[in-house]
Amino acid sequence: MSIFQQIVAIDFVEQFERGAQSYLAAKKEYYANHANRALECIKGALDRSPRSARLLDVGCGGGDDFHSYLEMGFCNLFGVDPSKSMVLAASKALPAIKISDGKWEQLNFPDADIDIVVGNFSMQYCENIDRGIDEAVRVLKRGGYFVVAVSHPTFDGVHGQHYSGKNSLVTANLYNGKFSVKYPGHSLSEYLSENFFRNFRLVKLTEFFSAANSRAVPSGLCVVGTKE
Ligand SMILES: C[S@@+](CC[C@H](N)C(=O)[O-])C[C@H]1O[C@@H](n2cnc3c(N)ncnc32)[C@H](O)[C@@H]1O
Repeated sequence: MSIFQQIVAIDFVEQFERGAQSYLAAKKEYYANHANRALECIKGALDRSPRSARLLDVGCGGGDDFHSYLEMGFCNLFGVDPSKSMVLAASKALPAIKISDGKWEQLNFPDADIDIVVGNFSMQYCENIDRGIDEAVRVLKRGGYFVVAVSHPTFDGVHGQHYSGKNSLVTANLYNGKFSVKYPGHSLSEYLSENFFRNFRLVKLTEFFSAANSRAVPSGLCVVGTKE
């Protein structure tokens, strides 16, 4: 079986659908003892936004990050995730927040409806990043914020099982190896694409090291843009 056929055979959402409870448990255990650098970057980018902003978390998983956004004072929160188990877990944990089925490639929100689109380690699961960017552009108001943290392409290239070219596949062992996931490999220029720069002004680019990563390459990337 070629790498391309293997990728076609992998349902990147199914791994969370099947493993939602183990993912959430492993994450909770890990972050009880480690700083969440991706969330810190996202929160830093949100700090100056009005708390009445309509904030959409794409690929919100079990909804953990909403606790931080609520603590910061945001009160118009929405979440989407393509995994039904995740939507269920998040809705159960946060009944006051509207969490529904959706993904980067298809956000079920009207045009120019949202002030801030955030994504914490969800965009890398898109096979076509540009389609995700298109949808973010569509739902964001002019001047709205795009705040996305992803696994760093360089880190994935060095530490994931990586195959060059369009058909690359990354295997990441998250949370001290307690949860293993696969996603398509992406290059930096897929996130900071011509499409991105056509629609957004780049406000900030941060490369961060996860608390457990003492290696030479950063493990995460946070992109902040405003819609022009
Ligand atoms: C690593 S988890 C991160 C969840 C959450 N943001 C967090 O920080 O805990 C990745 C999430 O992305 C979701 N996901 C997978 N493919 C996606 C896509 N194409 N668009 C949006 N979310 C996706 C998964 O279902 C999963 O809940």
